[in-house]
Amino acid sequence: MRIVLVGPPGAGKGTQAALLAQTLSIPHISTGDLFRANISQGTELGQKAQEYMRAGQLVPDEVTIGMAKDRMDQADAEGGFLLDGFPRNLAQAEALDGILKDEKLSLDAVLDLEVEEDEVVKRIAGRRMCRKDSSHIFHVEYSPSKESGVCDVCGGELYQREDDREDTVRKRLEVYHSETEPIIDYYKAQGLVTTLSALGAVADVTKRALAALGRED
Ligand code: AP5
Ligand code: ZN
Repeated sequence: MRIVLVGPPGAGKGTQAALLAQTLSIPHISTGDLFRANISQGTELGQKAQEYMRAGQLVPDEVTIGMAKDRMDQADAEGGFLLDGFPRNLAQAEALDGILKDEKLSLDAVLDLEVEEDEVVKRIAGRRMCRKDSSHIFHVEYSPSKESGVCDVCGGELYQREDDREDTVRKRLEVYHSETEPIIDYYKAQGLVTTLSALGAVADVTKRALAALGRED
């Protein structure tokens, strides 16, 4: 299956993507995680991305689309993938359509995670990420690790993302409304979108997502 996850910052895309990718046995491709990995490795791409991420703005398309395409090529698009955080504007959505068309492939579904702004602000404020594995995501209140500052899964150090500061979060939300939301209509016109509530327990949201994909195991 080839799936796109859309939703505001803090909606739970990364949390759900890790679970869905595992259940569906497809790779989870997160452009945010790819940028953060490049930043921590000190690559040229990471250096380019960092200033935009710090400011809560989108990294330019010419950097992002190439990186996403390379990762999809590695994943072997034919086997499917779950995209998290890409595409994020109309130019990226059109580029993705072109990439898939060249391979005679298409998307199966776009899941739109819906959650109000007050809740995403709470989710982001309490988020803690694992340095060793970006799919290990915690929350100080909703999903705490047993030992403070340490990942329950792998023992990695937990940290707070640099772009999770309140003023940057506000900018990211603004960018989401102006640049990313239009892709929902773009995909609605292709009949691909299911909107689902991202409220409630993580497992309940996963169930809704699997139901939307016709996978009610
Ligand atoms: P990216 O890393 O993609 O960030 P984002 O889209 O802003 O989303 P987040 O990672 O903040 O949230 P999430 O929805 O994954 O939520 P999570 O599961 O962590 O992008 C960062 C930056 O990179 C961008 O601003 C941009 O600069 C750049 N970038 C990335 N992609 C790009 C692109 N395509 N083009 C250009 N630039 C790009 O959950 C959040 C918290 O809530 C966690 O603490 C979690 O434990 C908790 N939680 C999750 N689910 C629940 C639940 N059901 N109940 C209670 N708590 C929950
Ligand atoms: Zn970990």
